[in-house]
Amino acid sequence: AIQPDPTLELAIRTIVDYPKPGISFRDITTLLGDARAFRRAVDQLVQPYAGLKIDKVAGIEARGFILGGAVAHQISSGFVPIRKKGKLPHETVRIAYSLEYGIDEMEMHKDAIEPGEKVVVVDDLIATGGTAEAAIKLLQSIGAEVVAACFIIDLPDLQGAKKIEALGVPVHALMEFEGD
Ligand code: PRP
Ligand code: MG
Repeated sequence: AIQPDPTLELAIRTIVDYPKPGISFRDITTLLGDARAFRRAVDQLVQPYAGLKIDKVAGIEARGFILGGAVAHQISSGFVPIRKKGKLPHETVRIAYSLEYGIDEMEMHKDAIEPGEKVVVVDDLIATGGTAEAAIKLLQSIGAEVVAACFIIDLPDLQGAKKIEALGVPVHALMEFEGD
């Protein structure tokens, strides 16, 4: 259950009818640009992992990199980038996933995680959960133990968190926006 923090919710900017009519875009750049809100958000993101030994934080390109780097630093874990295809120079594992329009592929370095390492996935927002699901499957394919996935924003109407929890991975989000 989420303890709503109005300070944080107010730091999110909503752009109505972007990128198309009927969609309300939840813009985190206003939160990131607000020093106090950014710190608060990172402090709250790491809270569930206090006292746990997390080996790696996996951040999902692009917005998950910003938060994932800060989270990894705060809990003194390594950081692993999950990238859109074609960006990583060494041997990779790759997975296709669905987006609103068509499909894309993400990848990570095969040797980024040792089998059995405990990993937390970080992204800015969970909508359908397709992105996070693909990241988790990719991590599990190289033997990671994915202990949780965390987000600033959950859009519960799209049931993404349910999809991730069905994989046995707990989901933490700092706030929810309904009616999206
Ligand atoms: C957005 C958002 C999440 C994903 C959530 O990323 O940052 O990563 O969509 O959607 P889902 O739960 O329905 O899969 P986007 O693909 O727009 O790319 P970006 O982070 O590079 O801006
Ligand atoms: Mg993204």
